[in-house]
Amino acid sequence: MPFPLDRPRRLRRTEALRTLVRETVLSPDDLMWPLFVVPGEKVRNPVKSMPGVFQLSVDELVAEAQAGWDAGVRSVILFGVPVHKDAVGSGAYADDGEVARAVRALKKSLPGLIVATDVCLCEYTDHGHCGILKPPRSGGPGQDLVVDNDLTIPILAREAVAHARAGADIVAPSDMMDGRVGAIRKGLDDAGFEDLPILSYAAKFAGAFYGPFRDAAESAPREGPGIPRDRKGYQMDPANWREAIREVELDIAEGADMVMVKPAVPYLDIVRLVRDRVNVPVAAYHVSGEYAMIKAAAQAGWIDEARVTLETLLCIRRAGADFILTYTAKDAARLLTGTGR
Ligand code: PBG
Repeated sequence: MPFPLDRPRRLRRTEALRTLVRETVLSPDDLMWPLFVVPGEKVRNPVKSMPGVFQLSVDELVAEAQAGWDAGVRSVILFGVPVHKDAVGSGAYADDGEVARAVRALKKSLPGLIVATDVCLCEYTDHGHCGILKPPRSGGPGQDLVVDNDLTIPILAREAVAHARAGADIVAPSDMMDGRVGAIRKGLDDAGFEDLPILSYAAKFAGAFYGPFRDAAESAPREGPGIPRDRKGYQMDPANWREAIREVELDIAEGADMVMVKPAVPYLDIVRLVRDRVNVPVAAYHVSGEYAMIKAAAQAGWIDEARVTLETLLCIRRAGADFILTYTAKDAARLLTGTGR
């Protein structure tokens, strides 16, 4: 036995000591709550694969945001689930679209709430892809269509400006087109929104964890001749970490004020890498599949939902995320502030 014995347990003896030396804290301030907005009134559709998550009409969304606010949630991110979809996602930049109306209503009733908007086309295109489909510029007949990068980015910029005009506090492009942050920055600046920050989904991986979200947002790629079956042509390969750094650096160079890594838990190595590499705030998105797995295990009685949720969020913070996008935000905030369920 070495002498004197090194005894890290001295500092674990009481809760007060453990609290004194705790390196990471989780607070409701660190949580951004994703909400889904649908047309209509008094609509509160449960999302089957995401227990506790609803598609909400604007009136219900305001009530839900208020409940979150009362629990300590200070930021939300909005996703539109429109009825009207077309090949070019024109609903994305409608000034009277669901998201624009929701932003206006939220800013009116909860002026202190940070309202971010997701900027993407997948909810608005009839084929479900995040951009405009075109035949490939090279290649023969019979080939799949491709999501055309350069046709898509002006539409994203238009969407971001529409959200800004509605009063959004942050715009968050999640499409993974090249150059979209620069195009959005320029669009915002030209429209007089040079103060509006961009949170870019910089390292967004094409994986299997977004399934429940696509139920909630009705945004899964449609099956059909020539329509790419997945998003691997624009979202990142889960195998790659160097590329994640490249994506993050490009987005910052183009004007991103904050960058995001998504999903969170299976990608905590990327969160840490990015945190160590850049000096802008880093967010992590604890995505729908991660949420659904916790819910499923909890419903089966296999885990303690509250403890697993808080531990998960804390560990995402420890890995280096400054804030976390999570469907658990309201419940987690209540647990953290002891405001109960
Ligand atoms: C839209 C978008 C997606 C998510 C956020 N923005 C889905 C996708 O890329 O298909 C996923 C969020 C989640 O799974 O919780 N592009």
